[in-house]
Amino acid sequence: MCGIVGYVGPQPALEVVVDGLKRLEYRGYDSAGVAVLADGRMDTEKRAGKLANLKAALAETPRSADGIGIGHTRWATHGAPTDVNAHPHVDNDNRVAVIHNGIIENFASLRLELEERGCKFTSETDTEVAAHLLGEELKRQGEDLAAAMRAVCRRLEGAFTLVAMYAGDPDLVVAARRNSPLVVGRGDGENFLASDVAAFIAHTRDAVELGQDQVVELRRDSVAVTDYDGNPAPVREYHVDWDASAAEKGGYDYFMLKEIVEQPQAVADTLLGRVGVDGTLTLDEMRLAPSELRDIEKIVIIACGTSYHAGLIAKYAIEHWCRIPCEVEVASEFRYRDPILNRQTMVIAISQSGESMDTLMAVRYAREQRARVLAICNVNGSTIPRESDGVLYTHAGPEVGVAATKTFLTQLVACYLVGLYLAQMRNLKFGDEINAVIEQLANMPQQVEKVLGTVAPVRELARSLADSETVLFLGRHVGYPVALEGALKLKELAYMHAEAFAAGELKHGPIALIEDGLPVVVVVPSREGRGVLHDKIVSNIQEIRARGARTIVIAEEGDETVRPFADELIGIPAVPTLLQPVVATVPLQVFACELALAKGNDVDQPRNLAKSVTVE
Ligand code: AGP
Repeated sequence: MCGIVGYVGPQPALEVVVDGLKRLEYRGYDSAGVAVLADGRMDTEKRAGKLANLKAALAETPRSADGIGIGHTRWATHGAPTDVNAHPHVDNDNRVAVIHNGIIENFASLRLELEERGCKFTSETDTEVAAHLLGEELKRQGEDLAAAMRAVCRRLEGAFTLVAMYAGDPDLVVAARRNSPLVVGRGDGENFLASDVAAFIAHTRDAVELGQDQVVELRRDSVAVTDYDGNPAPVREYHVDWDASAAEKGGYDYFMLKEIVEQPQAVADTLLGRVGVDGTLTLDEMRLAPSELRDIEKIVIIACGTSYHAGLIAKYAIEHWCRIPCEVEVASEFRYRDPILNRQTMVIAISQSGESMDTLMAVRYAREQRARVLAICNVNGSTIPRESDGVLYTHAGPEVGVAATKTFLTQLVACYLVGLYLAQMRNLKFGDEINAVIEQLANMPQQVEKVLGTVAPVRELARSLADSETVLFLGRHVGYPVALEGALKLKELAYMHAEAFAAGELKHGPIALIEDGLPVVVVVPSREGRGVLHDKIVSNIQEIRARGARTIVIAEEGDETVRPFADELIGIPAVPTLLQPVVATVPLQVFACELALAKGNDVDQPRNLAKSVTVE
């Protein structure tokens, strides 16, 4: 949700900033803007629409730039995505330029106050109040931009990352954060600021993570961090373990296509190093003592969107392997219903980005209630893992496409590992039983590879359905969350009405939706292990087919029992029931992606969305 870049150094600032924005465009893409200093004068350019529009505008008017610049790619909250509302915003003297990610909740009263003092506003954004306040504070604080930023931050409520530069100092960018991401990239004689390391990974892999309520002063040769009162503040430095090529399209037209294909490797990387030579699991990023794990009486999983679907699948595995009651809840609802939590509750927060505000707020609430919080996250050092008691990182690598694909599969793997780890710590399973599942997990990259090798007919089918208005999805057991994920992918990428139901629920109402030719995708459980479920869903397929549905059946290869009732049959490898989502999801990702492409949609940047949602 909004991408932010800042640069101080000897390189042409405009190029560095625009290149950084390109890598952050997945965070928001309804408008973009930059500010640079040109011979001591604040020079801003901003445009509604994608970054390409800004680039075109910049190309029309070549500008010189001192070695300092800031840039922003926006996901609108206050004010429509127009040129005027795009960031940066400047004060009335055009001395300070500000970009912002988040929401300033008390902006209305601050705006009124500023207007009463004669301040002229040009946009409808909450951000503009920060620009004017900074302009005022600069004068009060003896032209000290960092002091001005601290004074302004003390007055703001809500969530924000603010980055500012000032015409009076060509070697300084100042930033502050509260509840919104901000990371510093340390270079040699140059320094960077961004919402995500992807923005500067081509220049440096040495990063500094900023804590809550901190202000950073970035100069060519120094990075100074304080709290909002000006006291030096501790920071964590780390080295990013992937390079710029991982965040490139690598010959694919879209990141999503590349990320789907990367899934076998992502699954393998997430398993790597987690199983000791003797077969025991060691999840040492879990900063929870064995005794704490043994005390757990209840697990609550909180997450949003695709991560929530991973949580729904985790419930089946954790309850089956550990016999610990497990609830799964949408993070945005969690803290408003007065959930029952205590020291014996383990809350698992699943978030690819580690920045989803709904999940972060739920984590904070859970910790206030003294629950232990374990984060499952893909972004090293992001806020949710930092604020949790333990973290299990997925190693999917950077995911740029807005639709989660490889991070979902790796979240599943991480959830299975947590379940097995708990079973191990609580002596609920024999070592050889755990090893057997680990071996099956270790085999999943090959199985996913196999699925990827057989999806050509799925693509063809998807293209043939590009004019459909609705697609329904059905599943049972772990196949139900897979169906939910398939429907979500189709909604977000193809902008189609897509809905998923637990197959057994169909007859309680939704079956009325079935009409002649309506495509219905059915995820069929394995015949082994859950034979009853399998047979019941075969009956469900017959019920909808009898009412005219066009059945698209995803079933284990060799499952001939479904063939007579399948208008289209998509085979997936036979794997244990609980692990089936790892293979069954892949054709649905391909289906949604291809259908969206057939409709001419941009699958990396679907309309109205942003990759990480840092507002509630
Ligand atoms: C997935 O395709 C979506 N883009 C979205 O539902 C996403 O999973 C959700 O916003 C949660 O994000 P997180 O995992 O970063 O917390």
